[in-house]
Amino acid sequence: MSQYRVLVAGIGRRGMDHAHTFNKDMRFDLVGVCDKRADRLRDAAAQLKVQNIGTSARSMANNLRPDIFCFCTTPDTRYELVKIGVECGASLVAFEKPMALSLSEANEIMSLVRRAGVRTVVCHQHRYGAHYRKAKEIIESGLLGTLHTIHATSCAWMTHLMTHLVDYMRWFNNNIDAQWVMAQASGNGKFKDKQHPSPDYIAGVIHFANGVRGIIDCGAGAPDVPEIDYWWRKSRISAHGTLGFAEVLTNAGWRAVTGEGISTGRGKMDYEHDMRLYVADIARWLDDDKVPHPCNGESAYEGFEIRSRGCS
Ligand SMILES: NC(=O)c1ccc[n+]([C@@H]2O[C@H](COP(=O)([O-])OP(=O)(O)OC[C@H]3O[C@@H](n4cnc5c(N)ncnc54)[C@H](O)[C@@H]3O)[C@@H](O)[C@H]2O)c1
Repeated sequence: MSQYRVLVAGIGRRGMDHAHTFNKDMRFDLVGVCDKRADRLRDAAAQLKVQNIGTSARSMANNLRPDIFCFCTTPDTRYELVKIGVECGASLVAFEKPMALSLSEANEIMSLVRRAGVRTVVCHQHRYGAHYRKAKEIIESGLLGTLHTIHATSCAWMTHLMTHLVDYMRWFNNNIDAQWVMAQASGNGKFKDKQHPSPDYIAGVIHFANGVRGIIDCGAGAPDVPEIDYWWRKSRISAHGTLGFAEVLTNAGWRAVTGEGISTGRGKMDYEHDMRLYVADIARWLDDDKVPHPCNGESAYEGFEIRSRGCS
């Protein structure tokens, strides 16, 4: 089987997760890592035993010509790095959520990669967690009857968690198009967060074409998730149908009430487990164009720009 050559740019905490995962998978050859910070580069080179390191993503990408250009910078840097990935001839650009800081930037990114025919993947990897998969399996099984409502909440603020919430809501609802959306945001304190600028709180209602109603609560005004102690992980996605409900708690497993009774199970945020499956699906997509990555950029974009289609 062929190996895909990968360059990772931005090796903070998440970049190192990505780099380690590519490094451990035989389907990939981590050919280089890049960061503006020399201290991070030194540590990364020692840990990853990677030959090529450098501070300029553009020159490294142009010299190494990777199959996969992966970047894990904070959200203020997206379009420029996607462009570097496209210009160096990569077949796939993989990057971290959120895919952009504005809809216009997301539109520019998508126009660029569509024109160039370059695949993109945006890292919404929680879906690989056993508890997320179990909730999805229960929804698919029909045990909930007809799905009518999905409620997704998170106390962490918008640019951190909201695209995760929308992505998994869409997945639970088979990626059906949204017909209309209403939302309201309040509070500007978190706009001071330079890396993840957000309103303090945002709430929204999404009406999907199959009649399912999505409700999103994200940020400081989101409801408590008392089952979870650590506020950062206070996140719940619950799916309600005519015959029961199933829910996933980001760091506290899943549970369901159906005609078969009450059931619960474990599951937590497990980067090692989730990232392994996430990168394996990158190789699968590059091997076979008919097997798109579940986190493909087109789907991430649908979630990012979820808004009124019927009224546009
Ligand atoms: N998917 C998830 O579960 C998850 C979890 C945490 C964070 N994230 C996301 O991951 C991203 C990165 O987060 P982080 O905590 O690793 O950030 P970080 O600040 O620790 O690391 C980012 C790194 O990128 C480098 N960088 C910035 N611009 C660069 C450029 N042009 N070229 C090369 N290097 C550059 C910085 O020097 C820094 O070392 C964010 O978008 C965040 O929202 C995702």
